[in-house]
Amino acid sequence: MKLTGPFVQLLTLDHLPLRGKIADNLLEIIPNGGIVTANGKIVKTGNFDDLKREFPTAELDLISGSHIALPSFTDAHTHICFGGSRAQDFAMRNAGKTYLEIAGNGGGIWSTVQHTRKTDEHELSELLLQRIRRQISLGITTIEIKSGYGLDAENEIKMLRTIRNAQRKTPALLVPTCLAAHSLPKDFDGDQHAYLQYILEAILPEVQRERLSDRVDIFIEKSAFDPESSLRFLLSAKKAGFKITVHADQFTPGSAQIAVRTGALSADHLEASTDQDIRALAASDTVATVLPGASLGLGEPFAPARKLLDAGAIVAIASDWNPGSAPMGNLLAQASVLATFQKLSTAEVLAGMTFRAARALDLSDRGILKEGKKADFIIFSTTDYQEILYNQGQLLPSDIYIDGEKIP
Ligand code: NIG
Ligand code: FE
Repeated sequence: MKLTGPFVQLLTLDHLPLRGKIADNLLEIIPNGGIVTANGKIVKTGNFDDLKREFPTAELDLISGSHIALPSFTDAHTHICFGGSRAQDFAMRNAGKTYLEIAGNGGGIWSTVQHTRKTDEHELSELLLQRIRRQISLGITTIEIKSGYGLDAENEIKMLRTIRNAQRKTPALLVPTCLAAHSLPKDFDGDQHAYLQYILEAILPEVQRERLSDRVDIFIEKSAFDPESSLRFLLSAKKAGFKITVHADQFTPGSAQIAVRTGALSADHLEASTDQDIRALAASDTVATVLPGASLGLGEPFAPARKLLDAGAIVAIASDWNPGSAPMGNLLAQASVLATFQKLSTAEVLAGMTFRAARALDLSDRGILKEGKKADFIIFSTTDYQEILYNQGQLLPSDIYIDGEKIP
């Protein structure tokens, strides 16, 4: 058993609602706080001196100087397993071409597919681990990672194996998702219906055989897969036992409602969502995952996070880190900027990166510091939790704990 502290402020994020808006005065802030952990779990949080008396035999993990602690973050949407760069796309977009025009002209997702196919598993794994280490340095200890730059059985499986192998080399939890339905591959001899059928028959069974992922994602969009084919595909994947998540309403509205209809864990993007989409999400258990990094990468409006929260949706915030639309890969900076533009409370932003984001991954064991939850927490060298978002990504955690252990 171990007692870590004291902290000027300990933010537990306990007692907050799963859905809808949260005022900052609902945040539980324990002054002079401490965390007792054992076997990777939280035993108790509370006043440091009280805990010291209550657990006299606990090993002391003393934190010197002024620090605050809170649950570590979950990034519930990333594409960080990729080869190559899309700096050229970025420059072209800034010079006036649209994301869809660039994709239509041989740039876009397809160019990353070609690079990723050429990158061998060892190199891909090194690139992925580098990005995972950067995520951890931001305080992110649970990371969803999509395939989707293989777009055939061999290369989709290669990506998912690379993610599985990376799991053996990092203390963070990696949550792999099969996004073979990211885009219609240009070398596929068939229409989108035939490709979706190929995924169902030639990719997903192998994913299950090797236990590479239990999640399936699809990009429903004019440049990718149409709503009707996507709906059929998702229902088949669900029937085969996969959990569902959807790239929805990025440029064209309506697909968040398909996510809701299929009982998806989350509908992600939502930049183009209408009031009808927002109402559907708010009335469902599908997490509305907003991706400010994609808005910043593309120069598109932010998703209507404020409206979603006011309507009562479960709103998570994720980075979407990928080489095309979201090259920044700094969730902390992005969430801060989103808060400024969408007028989000600090509690709403922190909830969106912790227990609400975990919910998008079907994980209920993390994101709150309370008895029985996973002892994943982060420490910042400051006296006030409001400094985290105020510094817009420039204030990084001084220490990161996973399963109660400090990451070296
Ligand atoms: O979430 N929208 C589709 N997929 C990614 C972009 C991937 C890419 O451009 O490489 C996204 O933004
Ligand atoms: Fe994405």
